[in-house]
Amino acid sequence: MATALVTGGAGFIGSHLCELLLEDGWEVYALDDLSTGNLANVEHLRSQDEFHLTVESVLSSATVSELVHKADVVYHLAAAVGVRLIVEQPVHTMVTNIQGTETVLEYCNRFGKRVLIASTSEVYGDHREERPLAEDDRRIYGPTTQKRWLYADSKAVDEFLALAYHQERGLDCVIARLFNTVGPRQSGRYGMVIPNFVRNALSGAPLEIHGDGKQTRSFCHVQDTIRALKGLVDERSIGGQIFNVGSTDRISILELADRVQAATGSQSDRVFIPYDQVYGLGIEDTLHREPSIEKIGAAIGWRPTRTLDEIIADVVEHTRAAAELQPVDG
Ligand SMILES: NC(=O)c1ccc[n+]([C@@H]2O[C@H](COP(=O)([O-])OP(=O)(O)OC[C@H]3O[C@@H](n4cnc5c(N)ncnc54)[C@H](O)[C@@H]3O)[C@@H](O)[C@H]2O)c1
Repeated sequence: MATALVTGGAGFIGSHLCELLLEDGWEVYALDDLSTGNLANVEHLRSQDEFHLTVESVLSSATVSELVHKADVVYHLAAAVGVRLIVEQPVHTMVTNIQGTETVLEYCNRFGKRVLIASTSEVYGDHREERPLAEDDRRIYGPTTQKRWLYADSKAVDEFLALAYHQERGLDCVIARLFNTVGPRQSGRYGMVIPNFVRNALSGAPLEIHGDGKQTRSFCHVQDTIRALKGLVDERSIGGQIFNVGSTDRISILELADRVQAATGSQSDRVFIPYDQVYGLGIEDTLHREPSIEKIGAAIGWRPTRTLDEIIADVVEHTRAAAELQPVDG
């Protein structure tokens, strides 16, 4: 039986990935410090003999060494994520994302294990044109005094580190640049837009639109995303390369609010919050985000299969079910 290590395995994307790997007959080790992840995300997997959860940090060399040694392949998803967390805890973000990735890379290299690094569309920075971004596009960043860029830079350093290990030491790695990924289990606590819109639409609270809402994003269902991650790891011929993973169906945040309200029958008001009042000064929003997915399509034949309406319907169902589990006064 083949064995995978999923760092961040109790997180939103990680827990869905663990599920997929188990369904495909893998033995799965998940490593997660539960900082933004949640035991509830993997509770249903814990009765399976092939699933093992270690609650510890990727900053723990001894733990990473032991788990990488056991694995045939490694999916490195553990990271400090979410705009709110990044702005409030910049040191934690930099250390987790850079030192954590370096630790994983070092042991993957030492034990000769293939590793996928989960990067982000944030590394493209502040592109203003309405066009798909390709893997070799320029990165456009603001100054280091704007904390907003700290996450992007930390993930860009992860990419540099992975490519350096590949080029200089022969590490077998592949980098997935994830664009907005959405689906059941995503937490709204750290500033993710769809879970927040759905929660407020269902409870009758106002939908908070940051900026003027004309910024556009493309949202990919987590089930599509995890198929891409697995496909990239399974395809051995693409070591040392970067691939966008995301949907090409781009929509403005205002239109997204319309779709969420239509799906939930919500009469919620909308409030517009200037971007620098959302998280404090030093934050600016990127205008448009859409991936070119030609490269991943050519390499592994992947493309997203689920529409935005299916994504919203899934998040609505999950949010309603989770609300039913809450204690009445909780
Ligand atoms: N969701 C998206 O839209 C999106 C977009 C781009 C990139 N990504 C990347 O995908 C990966 C997974 O993100 P997600 O959306 O599932 O968020 P998430 O917060 O649910 O997952 C991150 C997981 O990593 C864990 N973690 C954090 N620090 C850790 C540490 N020091 N040691 C061990 N575990 C730690 C968290 O507890 C959490 O379970 C991240 O690398 C993120 O940067 C996500």
